[in-house]
Amino acid sequence: MTGQRQNTKKALSPRPLMRLLGDFGNSRILEAAIEYDFFTLIHRGFDTYEEVAREAGTVPRATRIVLDGLLALALVEKRKGKYFLTPISETYLVRGKPSYMGDFRYVALSLWDGMAHLKETLKTGKPLSRLDTWDELEVWEKLVVGIMPITQPVAKALCEFLGVGKTKKGLRMLDIAGGSSIFGMTVLACDPSAQVTQLDWPSINTVAKKLNRERGLEGRIRFIDGEFRLAPIEDNHYDLIVASNFCRFESPNGNQELFRKAYRALKPGGFFAVNDFIPNEERTGPTF
Ligand SMILES: C[S@@+](CC[C@H](N)C(=O)[O-])C[C@H]1O[C@@H](n2cnc3c(N)ncnc32)[C@H](O)[C@@H]1O
Repeated sequence: MTGQRQNTKKALSPRPLMRLLGDFGNSRILEAAIEYDFFTLIHRGFDTYEEVAREAGTVPRATRIVLDGLLALALVEKRKGKYFLTPISETYLVRGKPSYMGDFRYVALSLWDGMAHLKETLKTGKPLSRLDTWDELEVWEKLVVGIMPITQPVAKALCEFLGVGKTKKGLRMLDIAGGSSIFGMTVLACDPSAQVTQLDWPSINTVAKKLNRERGLEGRIRFIDGEFRLAPIEDNHYDLIVASNFCRFESPNGNQELFRKAYRALKPGGFFAVNDFIPNEERTGPTF
């Protein structure tokens, strides 16, 4: 028994802990490489660190260090001094490809400062800042575009689940805090006769309107500018209300207010769809 315990002790490596404590650096390496478009440059054939640095306007030695860091993360390969993309960076990190996911970095950036102050939060019980205030709007403008690749499949699944464009046509839908308007655009793709309204801050609605134009949907979504607690929402008016990736940013009181508003705005038999990262009752999973 004692021998067995000793063996287990020997086999237990501290490496996972060391890795976790250093992982913030890997996140920054990847984020910096996306910021300066290193992956796109390598894809375009600038395959030495000097060429990448020249095109990106970065310092050659620092560029080499970051590129070699990406090597350790299996995001590039290096042969005879030349860098090559790996399948994952080729698929998701080359700007201009439909599968491009580089803007997802804004999710990490929006959490960065808060996570850096986690120790204070443990003592005060308060977050560093709230993401629903006016001064955080620049974060939202980028983040809502960055999360489109993870939100679009959910929007499609909702349309399938409800039979939008099949059993249900001409739905009146309201997306509260709709961001990029990905739900609205997906509903309209399934059913052009749907009547879509989105509520969000004015600057975020401007981002959504630009995306609507790019997808040939200009003028198809009605926008309500403002804070969800204060903005006017018609009572007894909507068949479908969506709140996606929003509840987790709101306080318990804010969420109660949201649910009250949604309930009042729904027609009898209407549907309120909440999409979020929600753990089970015991909070043991799923891990996200
Ligand atoms: C994480 S994004 C989610 C966007 C979209 N629903 C999605 O799933 O892709 C959160 C959205 O909430 C909006 N928002 C935050 N606080 C708000 C508030 N108090 N009233 C209205 N919108 C708000 C932000 O502008 C942002 O568009």
